[in-house]
Amino acid sequence: MVRAMKWTTPLVLGLLVSGCQPTQLGQCDEDLARTLVFDLNGNPAYAGQAMVEQACAGCHSATSTGATRRGAPAELDFDMVGSRTSDAMMPDMDAINRVAAARGIIFEDRFDMFDTVVDGSMPPGDVGADAYVDAGYEYMDGRPLERIESAAGQEIYREWLACNGPVVERTADPPAGMEGGDCMMTADVGSCVYRSGGLEPIPPMWSAIHAQIAPRCALPSCHGPTNPGAGLVLEEASAARMALVGQPAGTGGATPMCAGRGTLVTPGDTGASLFWNKVSQTMPECGFPMPIGSRLAPRELAAIEQWIMMGAQDN
Ligand code: HEC
Repeated sequence: MVRAMKWTTPLVLGLLVSGCQPTQLGQCDEDLARTLVFDLNGNPAYAGQAMVEQACAGCHSATSTGATRRGAPAELDFDMVGSRTSDAMMPDMDAINRVAAARGIIFEDRFDMFDTVVDGSMPPGDVGADAYVDAGYEYMDGRPLERIESAAGQEIYREWLACNGPVVERTADPPAGMEGGDCMMTADVGSCVYRSGGLEPIPPMWSAIHAQIAPRCALPSCHGPTNPGAGLVLEEASAARMALVGQPAGTGGATPMCAGRGTLVTPGDTGASLFWNKVSQTMPECGFPMPIGSRLAPRELAAIEQWIMMGAQDN
C-alpha cells in the first residue's frame, strides 16, 4: 500500500494540475494574444477582441435588446468596446463595466466560444450576416484583420481565448510621439492603449515630422548626441535633416549594419531612401526596423512619405 502511494500520488497530482489547463485551446502566448489592430478611427483592440466585437457583439451585446439581439440568449453578452474618451484618466465607466462583464462570461464559456465558431454554428449565417459590425480593423502594417470564419482567423481567436481573452479596456489620445503605445495605466479589466490614426494628419513638413518622431528616435541610447546608433544624430531638426538627405548609410556606432547600403533620404524617391525602408518595413533591407521595439503610426508614415516625395525640404 505504502509502495503504491509513492507512485500514484504524483500521478494524481499531475492529472489534477493538467485538468486545470485549457488544453483544448492550447498554450497561452501573451504576446500573440496581445497583437494590436486599429479600427478606421485609430482605436486599438487586441486581434481576438476585435474579432468578437465585429462577429459576435452585433447580437450578443448588453446594448442590444429585442429584435436586434436576433434571439441571442439574455446575459450572454460579449461587449468588447471599452472606454474611448480622449483622456485616459476620465474613462467611460459604463463601457468599462460592460467589457469587464463580458470578459467574465467569455472566460466561463471559452470552450463553447471556440467550439461554436469551429463547428460553424456561430456566428449564425442564416439569422443575420447583417449582424456583422465592420469597424475596419487593420494591423499596424495595414493588413486587414482576418475574419473569424477563416482558418487564420480561428487560429488567432484560439490563441486569444487560450490567454483568457485579454482586452484593451481604455483608449486615449496620445501625447506627441507616443502613438500606438501603452498608456502605462494599471487597469482591472485590461490594458490602456493610445489611439493611433484617426487623428489630424501630420503636415508633410520636416519641422512637424521631426517634432512628432524625435521623442522616439533621439533617445540617449539610440540617435542622441552621445554614441549614436550608426553615427546618426537625430536630436535637432535642421541638423537631423542634413544628416539624412543625400547622405550614405552610417558607418559609425558599434555595429553599422547598413554601411554601404545606399542613401538615407533621396529627395523625390522613397524607393532609394533607406530611411523610408527602415521605418516603413517590418523586414528592412538591413539591420532592424526603426524605431526598435515599436512602429511609426500610419499618419506619421504618410507624412514622411509625402515629405520625401515632395523634395525632402527643410520646411
Ligand atoms: C446573428 C446573431 C448572432 C451572432 C452574430 C452571434 N450569435 Fe451566438 N447566439 C445567437 C443565438 C440566436 C443563440 C441562441 C441559439 C443557439 O444557441 O444556437 C446564440 C447562442 C450562442 C452561444 C450558446 C450556445 C449554446 O449552445 O449554449 C454561444 C457560446 C454563442 N452564441 C457564441 C457566439 C460567438 C462566439 C459569436 C461570434 C463569433 C456569436 N455567438 C455570434 C445569435 C448570434
